[in-house]
Amino acid sequence: MPPFMSNALQTEPGKRRVFAIISHPDAGKTTLTENMLLASGAIHAAGQVAARGEARRTQSDWMKIEQERGISVSSSVMTFEHADLIFNLLDTPGHEDFSEDTYRTLTAADCAVMVLDVAKGIEPQTLKLFEVCRLRDIPIITFINKLDREGHDPFELISEIQDKLALDVIPMQWPAASGRRFKGISDLRTGQFLRFVKPDDDGEHSLTPVDGTDIVDHFDDDDLLEEFLEEQELAKEYGEFNAQSFREGHMTPVYFGSALRKFGVRELIDALAEFAPPPQAEKAVKAGQDVEILPTSKDVAGFVFKVQANMDLNHRDRVAFLRLCSGEFKRGMKLKTAENKTISVHNPILFFAQDRELAENAYAGDVIGIPNHGALRVGDSLSETGKIKFAGIPNFAPEILRRARLADPLKAKHLRKALESLAEEGVTQLFKPSLGADMIVGAVGSLQIDVMRERIKTEYGLEVTFESPLYQTARWVTSDNPEILKAFVDKNTANMGEDIDGAPVFLAKSAWDVGYAQDKNPDIRFMTTKERR
Ligand code: G4P
Repeated sequence: MPPFMSNALQTEPGKRRVFAIISHPDAGKTTLTENMLLASGAIHAAGQVAARGEARRTQSDWMKIEQERGISVSSSVMTFEHADLIFNLLDTPGHEDFSEDTYRTLTAADCAVMVLDVAKGIEPQTLKLFEVCRLRDIPIITFINKLDREGHDPFELISEIQDKLALDVIPMQWPAASGRRFKGISDLRTGQFLRFVKPDDDGEHSLTPVDGTDIVDHFDDDDLLEEFLEEQELAKEYGEFNAQSFREGHMTPVYFGSALRKFGVRELIDALAEFAPPPQAEKAVKAGQDVEILPTSKDVAGFVFKVQANMDLNHRDRVAFLRLCSGEFKRGMKLKTAENKTISVHNPILFFAQDRELAENAYAGDVIGIPNHGALRVGDSLSETGKIKFAGIPNFAPEILRRARLADPLKAKHLRKALESLAEEGVTQLFKPSLGADMIVGAVGSLQIDVMRERIKTEYGLEVTFESPLYQTARWVTSDNPEILKAFVDKNTANMGEDIDGAPVFLAKSAWDVGYAQDKNPDIRFMTTKERR
């Protein structure tokens, strides 16, 4: 090892595991997060993660930045330790907070846990989030939740995952019934049976290992036992788990449990410890050359995947979340953007579960929060040399399109400037149709539109309303043949527009129209994502 190379730089990145939980609202993400933190000892009382609004703010009041500037960063990154590893769980906002941030956060995760409700299977938001994971082929561990209730037959759920997500699915465990008949879970690899023990006096449920050969004693119902043994044999026929196929994003191992009743959670954490990959080499451009940045490279480098604005809209303070990809970060270090803007990182925030401490050292796989006044934007790369530019964070096809309308039409120029600058920052996207003077704002969640409206009002003093335009959906269009692309753009002027970078966008009235246009124009690609430059 060269003398300048720190020993920690060689060993620390390998201990990090960065993951996110993807699920449809109500599948149990919050409950699972909380019980993972409880099981690993990172928090000591239930309700700490679920706490919202005031409660959450009070809890983190000691943190100066939150107190003084009103920025809540509490649940953005949660850290826990298990099996000598450091897990960074990135929060993917859902429900009414659902926005492009949710998607962008996934670009900073190395692995995902997909939570399915046993009674519901794959739901629309699960599918959308999965598709974002697939962009980078990140490995996915499936957790089938709410086994304390009756649900679908696990074989049906497995077929659904195979069909809808085109993944190879390998059950690692098999449940003995569900709901009130639930008896336990067998580990298909070891043959060990985890017997379900009903709540003791403290109300805790547990899974207690018993030898596979003794399970007869734990079934009071012979039919149930027979059914379980038969199913278990069938389940083994899915084949063996293949670590490489998992890491390449082609195979998902399936675990079962109940986040609320706290069974199967520890086994899920064990699975993460065993299978989730450490930080990998990241693709980047350095001095015009395509390079791969290793987690153990000396130059401190990372990218901003999320910027959180002040909750008090009159303050312009922000926290940029930087996912480190290489080097040994030290507090006070100066980092540069690829555009050569220098950022001194005096007060970085390193995340430890619900507490945060000033970061002294951080490595690939860590996330640091950098307070700033708007200098840092989503997708920015930061490094010591300023020479590294990571492959961009993509834009995602908007599902909400709105036409911006001014109360005072004389301010049209001001509005354009405001919309452009906020779109550059990544608050929403912006499209300019080829015909007419409308500016169309695009978002994946309605929160983005609300934030846009508020910021235009407070920062630019403009009253703006957002109306539904003629279009419902947008796709970036590309083609290997520039002439075919030009002919398509010319022929479809009424449906064409440009995004903020001038890239051509097909604006359609419905998804059906996109499908129709695709059928008629096989040489044109209608893209749902676009790399940001
Ligand atoms: P989310 O973050 O994915 O939206 O889901 P969240 O954890 O908030 O859970 C949604 C609802 O499902 C909650 O019930 C929660 O208690 C319940 N839940 C989560 N895991 C399980 C489980 O393993 N078994 C059962 N039976 N329920 C589970 P709620 O009534 O909406 O909220 P609450 O009043 O219980 O907080």
